[in-house]
Amino acid sequence: MTESGQAHRKNEHLALAESNFRRTPPTSSLEDVRLIHRPLPEIGISDVDLTVQNPDFNWQYPFYIEAMTGGSEKTGEINQQLALAARTTGIAMAVGSESIAIKEPAQAASFQIAREVNPDGFLMANIGAGHSAENAQKAIDLIHADALEVHINAAQETVMPEGDDAFYWKDNIKAIVEQVNVPVIVKEVGFGMDAQSINELSALGVQYVNIGGRSGTNFAQIEDRRNRETPDQYAFLYDWGQTTAESLLEAQRAQDGVTIFATGGIQSPLDILKAQVMGAQTVGVAGHFLHTLLTTDVDGLIAEITRWQKQLTELYALVGAKNVTDLAQVPYILSPELKNYNDQR
Ligand SMILES: Cc1cc2nc3c(=O)[nH]c(=O)nc-3n(C[C@H](O)[C@H](O)[C@H](O)COP(=O)(O)O)c2cc1C
Repeated sequence: MTESGQAHRKNEHLALAESNFRRTPPTSSLEDVRLIHRPLPEIGISDVDLTVQNPDFNWQYPFYIEAMTGGSEKTGEINQQLALAARTTGIAMAVGSESIAIKEPAQAASFQIAREVNPDGFLMANIGAGHSAENAQKAIDLIHADALEVHINAAQETVMPEGDDAFYWKDNIKAIVEQVNVPVIVKEVGFGMDAQSINELSALGVQYVNIGGRSGTNFAQIEDRRNRETPDQYAFLYDWGQTTAESLLEAQRAQDGVTIFATGGIQSPLDILKAQVMGAQTVGVAGHFLHTLLTTDVDGLIAEITRWQKQLTELYALVGAKNVTDLAQVPYILSPELKNYNDQR
């Protein structure tokens, strides 16, 4: 079967995300945050409980495989491997945007494979905010999802050669939250958020927001490089948006009532810990896990996730935290640049 333009785009996203990752390995913006070491933690590793304390997301581990792919034969194979790693390690997983499966039912299998491989795992559906509540429910039903991610990606669409040119999303988001039958997370795809937008989402009834910050996978660059006729037209947008660290500071300024998830440039269990200390309840990892899978194999990814689970437990103990609630007490300082950002907001 020849692949449609949209299916081809899915393959290009995967290839370009990985080639960018290899060319310029990302540095986490959370390097601008330093946790203060306290040498008397008074805790044992066996006291640590990483469980997410939320009935909607009752996960054993606070990090997960973030939305990446599906929509072509090649990306279906990747979803199969990611789902196998999620099942083996007991972590949650999101599939990539299912918009293509709604338009082209032949591509549904490349998403459904994730549920087939991991029938009892926590799986998140994914759809863009341009979609109706009806389509959102279709995306959920397609993979019997336990939650739905709705992505908001104005900057990506701006650079994308075939991107949308209108971003009227609020009515859809409100309807989706009201009408679908699973918890909804609204997420950015790597350009971050500000406090006002988080408050606006909250006013629409959104309970879960993933700040999806800059510093990891860069969709301004990826979309620009897909444009072969005139590449690098949008180089001036390559550092558009708030980093993950900046977005987490923004979330601290937002009104209470929204639960924050984080993603964007997470490179180690220490980044997960820092994001949680700054207020994220759970943390998504995309590029790093994709890179691990593509440069090793599914066993390599399973080994990496297993190592992170152990190391994150050790890090909780190191900062004297028995659980995520205790992390709020961990002191930290900001780099001069991040402090400057914070001071000006
Ligand atoms: C190949 C690839 C495809 C992606 N596709 C989607 C998508 O369809 N929907 C979405 O919400 N996010 C998508 N993302 C964004 C990730 O979910 C994540 O928010 C972003 O990559 C930042 O995390 P990272 O720095 O760990 O990669 C994609 C990421 C990658 C690497």
